[in-house]
Amino acid sequence: MAKDGKSPLHHPQTQFTHVGRPPAGLGTAVNPDITRASTLLFDRAEDLYRSDIRGYGRHGSAGHDALIEAFNLLEGGAGTTLAQSGLAACTLPILANVKAGDHLLLTDSSYGPTRHFCQKYLKGIGVETEMYDPRIGGGIDALIRNNTAVIMMESPGSLTFEIQDIPAITKAAKAKGVTTIIDNTWSAGLSLKPLALGVDISCHAATKYFGGHSDVMFGATISAAPAMAKKVALTAKYLGYATSPDDAYQILRGFRTVVHRFRQSEKTALSLALWLNDQDKVQQVLHPALPTHTDYAIWKRDFTGTACLFGVILKPCSEAEVLAFINALKIFGIGYSYGGFESLAIHCDPQLTRQHSDSLGGPLVRFACGLEAVEDLKNDIEQALEKIN
Ligand SMILES: Cc1ncc(COP(=O)(O)O)c(C=O)c1O
Repeated sequence: MAKDGKSPLHHPQTQFTHVGRPPAGLGTAVNPDITRASTLLFDRAEDLYRSDIRGYGRHGSAGHDALIEAFNLLEGGAGTTLAQSGLAACTLPILANVKAGDHLLLTDSSYGPTRHFCQKYLKGIGVETEMYDPRIGGGIDALIRNNTAVIMMESPGSLTFEIQDIPAITKAAKAKGVTTIIDNTWSAGLSLKPLALGVDISCHAATKYFGGHSDVMFGATISAAPAMAKKVALTAKYLGYATSPDDAYQILRGFRTVVHRFRQSEKTALSLALWLNDQDKVQQVLHPALPTHTDYAIWKRDFTGTACLFGVILKPCSEAEVLAFINALKIFGIGYSYGGFESLAIHCDPQLTRQHSDSLGGPLVRFACGLEAVEDLKNDIEQALEKIN
């Protein structure tokens, strides 16, 4: 809230500066306290029967509540459940919405460990996963069966960057009572508001932009409707999900600066993508804001921006040359993840296990831009490209 307690705060950077902070007063801290607790004491024996108070450390703290408020604000959600990692934030809403005998539709472009969870763990408990083409759009209607419980999206795919037609998919899902979930990690909820496009649940690897410094694992599952939020929270309770108050504090701290860090790295990524698009050794740049991207029109319609992460398909060359290129990068680290202050690059081909897409026609490298100067990053890539003949 604004100081007068009344004025609406419109811009996300203003809202995120204030959300979840304790009321100001003489000598009070700017930030919420960190409460480390397993045991919480009750005043009287009969208090154990009360349902209106927090009874145990696993159920969070005031700091967790502040972070929940921030995630609800980010996506316009009715309720958020915090999770110990981004993967846990993705698997939780799936588990909350499937039972033995159900069918799940998962985008072929999904994050690998989510795919493994569905294809291996869910299979073991009697839930069938069918992979769908991320570009299927309203055609998903034909794949929905009587027992389809969930459609799990990710847009763009974090390796191959297909943008999904979310409104068409949610329309088909709603007509048949299917729950829709999206992994919204790429956009940080800043470039895409999936709940406003009809998605039931948005999940985040807050490890990325909200952590922002590559030193904390965290996740958040945000539901559009109160009943769904309750269902997800109850599942987390049954499963014993719990997050550290110190980690929750770090993620709320990340909220204060996330818009600025996100916009800076987004700008750097777009600049590098445009430059790489003109390089001789590059076949195609997979960045949704380039008009050459297959899904440019959908991106332009549904998104308000991009992110720090994009891919580059190199002209066909040997694997040894791709590896030499990545090894020659001096500023970009070699590592999974993104959203931290430091730039990263990975060779994606070993992780591509698709059923629906054609061969990319060349090796795929993914760049995650950090907060370094764009000229330095450009020079770094330029000198490394010399390793490819
Ligand atoms: C798109 C996407 N979803 C989920 C995750 C999982 O997040 P975490 O590493 O916090 O478990 C990642 C991590 O790389 C990711 O890229």
